Amino acid sequence: MNSSESALAGSPGALRTNLDHRAGGGPRDDSLVVVANRLPVRRVRRKSGTVWETSPGGLVSALVPTLERRRVTWVGWAGLKSRRTPPFRHDGIDNVPVPLSGDDVEAYYEGFSNRVLWPLFHGALRAPELRRSWWEAYRSINVRFAEAAAAAAPRGGAAWIHDYHLMLVPALLRERRPDLRIGFFLHIPFPPEELFARLPWRRELLAGLLGADVVGLQTRRDEQNLRALLEGTEGGGADRRAPRVETFPISVDFERWERAARSEKVRRRSAALRRRLGTSKTILLGVDRLDYTKGIDARLRAFQRLLREGAIAAEEAVLVQAAVPSREGVTEYVEQRRVVERLAGELNGEFGEIGRAVVHSMHRNFGFDELVALYLAADVLLVTPLRDGMNLVAKEYVASRVDERGVLVLSEFAGAAAELTDAMLVNPFDPEGLAARIADAVRAPDAASSARMRALRRVVRERDVFRWADTFLGRLAAAGGDGARRRSRRAASAETGDAAEG
Ligand code: G6P
Repeated sequence: MNSSESALAGSPGALRTNLDHRAGGGPRDDSLVVVANRLPVRRVRRKSGTVWETSPGGLVSALVPTLERRRVTWVGWAGLKSRRTPPFRHDGIDNVPVPLSGDDVEAYYEGFSNRVLWPLFHGALRAPELRRSWWEAYRSINVRFAEAAAAAAPRGGAAWIHDYHLMLVPALLRERRPDLRIGFFLHIPFPPEELFARLPWRRELLAGLLGADVVGLQTRRDEQNLRALLEGTEGGGADRRAPRVETFPISVDFERWERAARSEKVRRRSAALRRRLGTSKTILLGVDRLDYTKGIDARLRAFQRLLREGAIAAEEAVLVQAAVPSREGVTEYVEQRRVVERLAGELNGEFGEIGRAVVHSMHRNFGFDELVALYLAADVLLVTPLRDGMNLVAKEYVASRVDERGVLVLSEFAGAAAELTDAMLVNPFDPEGLAARIADAVRAPDAASSARMRALRRVVRERDVFRWADTFLGRLAAAGGDGARRRSRRAASAETGDAAEG
């Protein structure tokens, strides 16, 4: 979601066919092929024409800084429909675009990925629509990604596949390139068995994951859900490969947020924001991709309840909601936007005065400095998803609060709640409880909030995104060794006629 301020205008730099490290110096230990639905940059249409900008979402914002010191080829979609883009190098990464036609986008991305897997994996917050044609498209696009990855990976190298769009790729890539170490990381929650079981294609999806040497998940709960399936009959019986399944909570580049928060430029910007909103007021902030999983409507309703009950006076507090446009081709997202805008309108209609809104609702992209300034200006950050894999906004806020102030209100249903236990934890499904906790946050004494923030900062500083990537890739290097040994033993036993190893 954190689109970088320097939105890349025009071409992403020198276009070249850039897989020279394959042809040339042979394999390098540190080389890595990343496979994700999106490339780190995407093409978008603006009034001025087509431009490149940083891709939205936590996956890209987390992963990119960890790749700096590695030799990386990134296989992914460049955005827009049906456009063939040649490989190009940008910010030290070799990008290999996978083209998607309008139909592909509709069936594989909007359809199966975002109207089946996304809602189901987020606790069926919306009913998944189980269309056969979407599944067919998902399968064939996963083959397309696997083929592109197979062509890009140096011999004996490592491939790191990301997220729910590409769950079949580990096995498809393994078939094509048994020499590779293959890792898979799921950025969203892994659902409990009774939800996963609704998928008519559950066995295929699990078999896809079984192609990996390491499968990483955000929390222990996700890990347990996947293990339960793999250990049951859905896992495919005794003779399957057993990937290493482990929890690796994703994080942020702590120092980058901290550095920006200390900069003169951002501090000035943040002070100006406070002045414009009212220096004596309590500023509540929400920052999210505009997604129905994020509980934006729940938090607006809670704020409305507090104003109606008089627990908070309209002169006393203001809520800033920064919502980043997302998946606008998907009905549920269009609907959620309407709900959020209607609630914001209602709140200002009821409690606003001329020149004094109680809610500032924005729907656009935000630059990095602008976000840090918002975080620094906010007395309370409201992170209230109904379900969330991790939620990096919570960690960005903590990393930005170099002044050790500010209260983090965090949903128990965000993966981040497992680590950020010093946040003020809330249940967004409980309207009265949520409102009460927000009121507590507004009234929280400074000393207590500072103690909590210090504790939160220790956790995020220590468990930053570099540690996440190093731990995952470390496991992949080790497990890949085991996998290779297993595979060569299997080949040897096949020659001697022994039963293949499980
Ligand atoms: C989440 C997902 C990512 C995705 C991002 C943005 O963070 O886990 O895989 O890229 O949202 O969503 P979009 O649909 O625009 O890629």
